[in-house]
Amino acid sequence: GANVQWGGRFASGPSAIMREINASISFDKALWRQDIAGSLAHAAMLAKVGVISAEDEAAIRDGLDGIAKEIEAETFSFDEALEDIHMNIEARLSERIGEAGKRLHTARSRNDQVATDFRLWVRDAIDGVSGQTASLMRSLATRALEYADTAMPGFTHLQTAQPVTFGHHLLAYVEMLSRDAGRLADARKRLNECPLGSAALAGTSFPIDRRMTAATLGFDRPTANSLDAVSDRDFALEYLSALSIMAMHLSRLAEEIVIWCSAPFGFIRLSDAFTTGSSIMPQKRNPDAAELARAKVGRVAGSLISLLTVMKGLPLAYAKDMQEDKVPVFEATEAITLTLAACDGMIRDLLADAGRMRQFAGSGFSTATDLADWLVRVLKLPFRTAHHVTGRIVARAEADGVDLSDLPLSAMQEVDPQITEDVFSVLTVEASIASRTSEGGTSGVNVRQQAAAWLTRLDGE
Ligand code: ARG
Repeated sequence: GANVQWGGRFASGPSAIMREINASISFDKALWRQDIAGSLAHAAMLAKVGVISAEDEAAIRDGLDGIAKEIEAETFSFDEALEDIHMNIEARLSERIGEAGKRLHTARSRNDQVATDFRLWVRDAIDGVSGQTASLMRSLATRALEYADTAMPGFTHLQTAQPVTFGHHLLAYVEMLSRDAGRLADARKRLNECPLGSAALAGTSFPIDRRMTAATLGFDRPTANSLDAVSDRDFALEYLSALSIMAMHLSRLAEEIVIWCSAPFGFIRLSDAFTTGSSIMPQKRNPDAAELARAKVGRVAGSLISLLTVMKGLPLAYAKDMQEDKVPVFEATEAITLTLAACDGMIRDLLADAGRMRQFAGSGFSTATDLADWLVRVLKLPFRTAHHVTGRIVARAEADGVDLSDLPLSAMQEVDPQITEDVFSVLTVEASIASRTSEGGTSGVNVRQQAAAWLTRLDGE
């Protein structure tokens, strides 16, 4: 038969395919809490301005409370013929309380309803993801403090560049995540306006109080333009953008974990809890969680592109295309939630092999820059000249098969006779790291200070 909500205009019901392509209940049931919260706020407002009676409002409140209990107890039966969460709840309300239930949709449309529900959902998701981000930052800063003096090779082009500390490296990710958290907080501010009361697209002739519903639902203010309010999904796109950048960061961390725990590197060991074995090779300890964290960015960034493409070229105001906004947001949220948790677990548990890291920190002529800097500081050579002299000394060391610090002074003096014994004081890994005291540099003093500052900041939040 015809639809209960708009059957008046229709002689017969939709085809099975129409019903299937049109229905969103299978995924938008996730919005049930937000939908009930929105309806409670709307009904209270309608009663306050005198559009419905206090008795009707009380009945609506009772009915919606009952429905919430049914959904929680999983006794609520969702009906695909009722299309989405909004009509499923409204139909059940009328079933439970009759006439009063049918008054709830006064001065409202599913267009402003879904825009409101979805904003509420994304707002909660932002809060959840932000909390997890802070937790991962805390774990990284805690481990950074512990490894503030642990030398490791720093890379550019994945070629040994200069010695750094493991703590400094971990803090680099804290910085990235703090920008991610900032983007989420920023998106949340712009999101926090209430579309409810925009109705279908033009507003309403009823004397509604949009400030009241906005305040009840924790929004800062009502949205300003009804056409924009029902057709805007920027809040979801901003959220997905922030998530995409964050997922990219986590994929870099995950990739480094994969590299660090490979046998040729052997810099870290993941705990058994975050490692899998092989069904054929008994020796294997595979970093599957890190690999999946590296891969999840595909889903998250895919969700962003998916929603951007859905929204592109849509004429104002609402169009059914916009129903395709939810799955990408739900999927990206699930992916980032799991990825953050996995990264947090791996970081908390991992053990660094400080001896092996130290060994490689000193190989590959990693203190060549320190030698060049010494030539500038002590012999007053111009840096370009010092760079050239050092290059020749490195070539000599390489030819002799020794590290820079093991090259005899006489060999260095063949390149530049002014070089003295003092040069050896800057050629060790420890000296190199300790000298990097410039703001933001890798010295242990800096790292301890920064890790401690982050921990204080994160505890204050
Ligand atoms: N299920 C719809 C969505 O998620 C609700 C809004 C429907 N509005 C409409 N005019 N058909 O977008």
